[in-house]
Amino acid sequence: MAKILITGVTGGLGGATARFLKERITVEDIAVLVRDRESDSAKALANEGFELRLGDYDNLEGLTTAFQGIETLYFVSANDIGKRIPQHRNVVEAAKKANIKHILYTSTVRKDESSEAPLHIVVDAHVQTENWVKQSGITYTILRHNLYAEVIPMFLGSKEQLLQSKTIYLPTGNGKTAFVPREDFAEAEANILAAPSNYENKVLEFNGSEQTSFEEVSKILTKALGHPIAYVSPEVGEFEQTMASYQLPEEIIGMLVMFSLGIANGEFEQKTDDLENVLGRKTTPISTFLEEVFA
Ligand SMILES: NC(=O)c1ccc[n+]([C@@H]2O[C@H](COP(=O)([O-])OP(=O)(O)OC[C@H]3O[C@@H](n4cnc5c(N)ncnc54)[C@H](OP(=O)(O)O)[C@@H]3O)[C@@H](O)[C@H]2O)c1
Repeated sequence: MAKILITGVTGGLGGATARFLKERITVEDIAVLVRDRESDSAKALANEGFELRLGDYDNLEGLTTAFQGIETLYFVSANDIGKRIPQHRNVVEAAKKANIKHILYTSTVRKDESSEAPLHIVVDAHVQTENWVKQSGITYTILRHNLYAEVIPMFLGSKEQLLQSKTIYLPTGNGKTAFVPREDFAEAEANILAAPSNYENKVLEFNGSEQTSFEEVSKILTKALGHPIAYVSPEVGEFEQTMASYQLPEEIIGMLVMFSLGIANGEFEQKTDDLENVLGRKTTPISTFLEEVFA
């Protein structure tokens, strides 16, 4: 089989995808991109039999070298939102130079692509990258992700914090999200990588099987924790002031506001069966996910 390169493997999504793929094809056909061969996570991957390739999205030349001999590239979007545009341009340029045949890119679902959208900065980088990938002439598969279920504990804090505040306090209004646990994305995407020719030049909308509001999250957690957890959706100004009074860094407050308003606007209230079809099952119920996280 032709060689596949997976990026972002020292992170949650890429690492899980590589490991699911290893259960489906021989590990000799899987290479992984790392920035530091000596990191614990890179060493663990090497011990599991993955071929390490060294590369950084900031370095076009290094990426071009790392991509030599690769047929299929699983390109995980960068995690520094402010740097995505030049980094993603480098990845696509390097893929062209190295003659990669098929790129799978992890993008985002969205409704509003306008510059007024709360999530404009996030959506814009993904839209531009999708366009570069499509215009590269390389066969593509665009994997548009809904929000990770992991975002919920990230927004709510620890079980102890929640039991103390007894409140979910977020300006998400009545917006619903088709959350997906990250492992479900990884499992589905390993299925695709094991048979990429079935997904050539396709855009897949990967949404969870349920649409859940934070009001519903509060009900699930009330049951799971055995204590009443309320849901309060404040005005944005009040939310910002309250968070600042807890000394939360401005950057974090901005991120919370941006995603909360995106949720309130219904950006993530999406319904497709693309993910169920690739997984061959429904996505993990959000109640199951939350019961495990807040156990
Ligand atoms: N849909 C959602 O709700 C959601 C939520 C969070 C993130 N995301 C997006 O999904 C991606 C994957 O999520 P995740 O949870 O797996 O993220 P993560 O755990 O933060 O992992 C990010 C991975 O990208 C690598 N990376 C970052 N900058 C790089 C660069 N300049 N060159 C090469 N590799 C680089 C990191 O490598 P190092 O170990 O070397 O840093 C790491 O392996 C994120 O990067 C982000 O774009 C989506």
